[in-house]
Amino acid sequence: MSDADEPWWRRTTVYHIYPRSFADANGDGIGDLRGIEEKLDYLSWLGVETLWLSPIFTSPQADFGYDISDHYGIAPDYGTMDDCRRVIETAHARGMKIVFDMVLNHTSNQHPWFLESRASPSGPRRDWYIWRKGRGARGEKRPNNWRSMLGGSGWHRDEASGEWYWATFLPFQPDLNYRNPDVREAMLDVVRYWLGEGVDGLRLDLFNAIYKDGSFVDNPFSFRPVPSETNPHGFFQRHIHTLDHPDTLRFARELRKVVDAVPGAPRFLVGEVFGDAATLQAYCGEPDDPGLHLVFLFQTMRTAFRASEVRELIAGFEGAFADPRLPTYVFGNHDRPRFLHRLGDDTAKAKLWATLQLTARGVPFLYYGDEVGMGHEDVPLAQGLDPIAARFGYVPEWLARSLSRMGILLNRDASRRPMQWSDAPNAGFAEEAATPWLPVHPRYARVNVAKQERDPTSLLSCYRELLALRANSLALCAGSLALFDAGALPEDIVGYRRVHERHGQREVVDVLLNFGARSRTVTLPEGAGARVFSNVACEESVVEGGRVSVRPFEGVIILP
Ligand code: GLC
Repeated sequence: MSDADEPWWRRTTVYHIYPRSFADANGDGIGDLRGIEEKLDYLSWLGVETLWLSPIFTSPQADFGYDISDHYGIAPDYGTMDDCRRVIETAHARGMKIVFDMVLNHTSNQHPWFLESRASPSGPRRDWYIWRKGRGARGEKRPNNWRSMLGGSGWHRDEASGEWYWATFLPFQPDLNYRNPDVREAMLDVVRYWLGEGVDGLRLDLFNAIYKDGSFVDNPFSFRPVPSETNPHGFFQRHIHTLDHPDTLRFARELRKVVDAVPGAPRFLVGEVFGDAATLQAYCGEPDDPGLHLVFLFQTMRTAFRASEVRELIAGFEGAFADPRLPTYVFGNHDRPRFLHRLGDDTAKAKLWATLQLTARGVPFLYYGDEVGMGHEDVPLAQGLDPIAARFGYVPEWLARSLSRMGILLNRDASRRPMQWSDAPNAGFAEEAATPWLPVHPRYARVNVAKQERDPTSLLSCYRELLALRANSLALCAGSLALFDAGALPEDIVGYRRVHERHGQREVVDVLLNFGARSRTVTLPEGAGARVFSNVACEESVVEGGRVSVRPFEGVIILP
């Protein structure tokens, strides 16, 4: 739906593809760019508007692409530069946008910059990374107490020079030194290059870690053992010198200027950052001095399936991200357990969750496979390909499984299993003779695209209908949101009104979501429409007598 006053990214829906696991076109068991190209038909049939690809750049694949060794090359696992250009072009030809994942914070330890930096302590590249002498008589003690994002020190000693380098994430992902202007320029050039290639936006990996404090003083003690989505402090320290540094916030604005200067349709930036509302807002800047366009809001990953919690979530987002800010609704990604897991594998609940995601005000981020209800099946730590699994190999399996139930994955393989296209061998992800890089989910024969495409009441059909409703309604994709007073609704019902008003045209859409296991009757508010879309039947009916009955876990959308 077009609204010339709104930039496209404010109205879009984003579908996150983990390229390694989406579709394998060349039979090596690894998903690739040609596979993605072949599935563009499916994606446009589904109705998603923007595709976000996890990193496809040259990389030793120690963290499956989040360890880049050449920002200008494409990893042979995924294809060639030509394949990449073709995916961009073909997506555009279908009216879709494409977003790349950009890891600005660190590189692979195999990047030529790091190899050079490590090899020559007095050379010009030394200062491209963060090197410090250790404490103690022989420099054998870490330079300070800073902890990495995974707990444990983020300092790693290079035996040859005896100095230590800093890594926010894993030891093979050394952090770049943004205090060196050449590094900043080199990375801004990477950004300009890909936007120049026609990429419509960037997802910024670990953006909150870009600048570290130049004083290298210790981080202060904290009682917090584990960080969370809304509070990144933990592992018994406040990461004030390593995360959310004022210079990182300044860099968000600098980057925005670079992106805004790229000719053509507006591009957008979405940041992987964590913290309270004030911190997240700071990353987005102010209308007269903007920063990132969007930030991921990860509270959605922990919100319980309860009306009161969902109401609180929406109210919180509306408060902190009131227009012109815009919330994001992120229900899954390649680092977290599949969202269906949290819903007890209940597809009816998943449909309600999808209805919330696609009718609330904000940009929805869908994770591949969630549209068919790909389930979660933990992969034992000992079998993990994920480098985090190796890092936490000492953790007993029972503990890893209970952490996974709490939303913390020590082996992220579980959420990266091959896409379930059909009941063919290898779930249709790869040809029969291939061995998929990760085992397919044991239930693929029952849960797959081919099966659900034919069923008008499947989860997939529900997503497709919701995406179409949203795309055809300015109220849903660009309108304001006002929550109905909980007191005015039956128990377990969350309701809100979306309104779009421009140039004398007004569109009103009401949404009622039943989080309870009992049917409820709701008297429609003043000004409500006459057509009702139900996410259970995936079809429309007409309102009668100003009242609508909402079945257990049903979501209804009342259209004009
Ligand atoms: C982000 C990515 C994750 C990756 C890490 C290091 O959190 O989402 O997959 O391992 O950054 O780049």
